[in-house]
Amino acid sequence: MYNRLRMNDRITSPQLQEEEVVLDRALRPQRLVDFTGQDRVRENLGILIEATKQRGEALDHVLLHGPPGLGKTCLAHIIANEMDAPIRITSGPAIERAGDLAAILSNLREKEVLFIDEVHRLGRAVEEILYPAMEDFALDFVIGKGPSARSIRLKLPRFTVVGATTRLALLTAPLRTRFGAIFRVDFYDHEALEAIVRRAAGMLQVEIDDAGTAEIARRGRGTPRVALRLLRRVRDYAQVRANGHITAEVAEEALEILEVDARGLEDLDRRVLHTIIEKFDGGPVGLDTVAASVSEEPDTIMDVVEPYLLQLGFIDRTPRGRVATARAYEHLDIPYQRAEQPKLL
Ligand SMILES: Nc1ncnc2c1ncn2[C@@H]1O[C@H](COP(=O)(O)OP(=O)(O)OP(=O)(O)O)[C@@H](O)[C@H]1O
Ligand SMILES: [Mg+2]
Repeated sequence: MYNRLRMNDRITSPQLQEEEVVLDRALRPQRLVDFTGQDRVRENLGILIEATKQRGEALDHVLLHGPPGLGKTCLAHIIANEMDAPIRITSGPAIERAGDLAAILSNLREKEVLFIDEVHRLGRAVEEILYPAMEDFALDFVIGKGPSARSIRLKLPRFTVVGATTRLALLTAPLRTRFGAIFRVDFYDHEALEAIVRRAAGMLQVEIDDAGTAEIARRGRGTPRVALRLLRRVRDYAQVRANGHITAEVAEEALEILEVDARGLEDLDRRVLHTIIEKFDGGPVGLDTVAASVSEEPDTIMDVVEPYLLQLGFIDRTPRGRVATARAYEHLDIPYQRAEQPKLL
């Protein structure tokens, strides 16, 4: 809980914040053609959907994985839209008992999309119901007890599970193999993020020039959710201080006040880098040690801070721990002088 609250204080937290739910829905692209970036995913998904529709079948089960805020939920809705199929939304932790899942499954319609968010958090017993459901479109029940117990098999319509997870490694192997298509969503490049900011600004009727768009995209951590949030905060600033018009200068001023630096780093990111560099001579240092030093949960460091620092090339992951790179020193304006590493004989 503490962790969650802290996370929500961060303007660059990729996690969804309470007040964003409605806006998020309004800005969400509805069709594959409106979805910007992730070219490989978009192309493969497009082929999969088209081929399946031509055959008149239900779509194969799809697993989407990658860091938060990059469009997994968005893609799940797009998949349903493109298949002209209804979507039912649930999540790993929401399905507590096997019976809950059985109830959901037995109410599904042909080709319906069952979106399971945080699919790595399904319980063991629940997963066991899901295996035959995904593979054979069947629900297995055991009726009675002892020698008179019998197993009954109920046929299910052909449906599609779309699973989403930020932690592919936590998915059990049997569950993973039941997905016919697995896609990784990755951080967006600058152009894609610019296009997303531009589209959203248009929809929100925000006045913004190209340089302003570029400035927000540069600080958006390769993450649409973060870039869109920065856009809304910069819009507020522009409204109060700059007649509502967003230029690069206005964006820069607004983000300065919000303490988001030129590469989209916030206080916690910088503290992590300073810790590695100053307390541990640039590393290598274990993630748990770093987390303890900055008084944060290791999960927060792992899910929110580290992926983006890796993406920027500010840290490296080595078998002995995290290492700060020359780029990190440069960004923080610290002279790069690594001590000679003792050579292993
Ligand atoms: N390619 C895109 N084009 C335009 N907007 C996008 C794109 N991808 C994501 N968004 C927007 O970014 C926000 C976050 O996307 P989404 O909720 O799908 O992320 P997610 O991967 O499901 O995150 P989480 O792991 O936290 O559930 C949404 O408002 C969505 O509309
Ligand atoms: Mg999501």
